[in-house]
Amino acid sequence: MYVCLCKGITDTQIRAAVQDGASSLREVNRTLGVASQCGKCGLMARDIVRASLEQSVESDQQLFYAVT
Ligand code: FES
Repeated sequence: MYVCLCKGITDTQIRAAVQDGASSLREVNRTLGVASQCGKCGLMARDIVRASLEQSVESDQQLFYAVT
């Protein structure tokens, strides 16, 4: 779904940016430009970044358990 209408950025693009190494809304803003115009998408974008970071931590932990 579209998160940032001003820039035409979707939640999928934000999640991909986190998977590519972005670790904060500021970093996603730098790479995609999300929340750089009206700013109305900032809260939702931040929530998506946080959820994506938590998911990647959880998947890392699952990998850890699989290895040990
Ligand atoms: Fe994202 Fe306006 S909706 S900057």
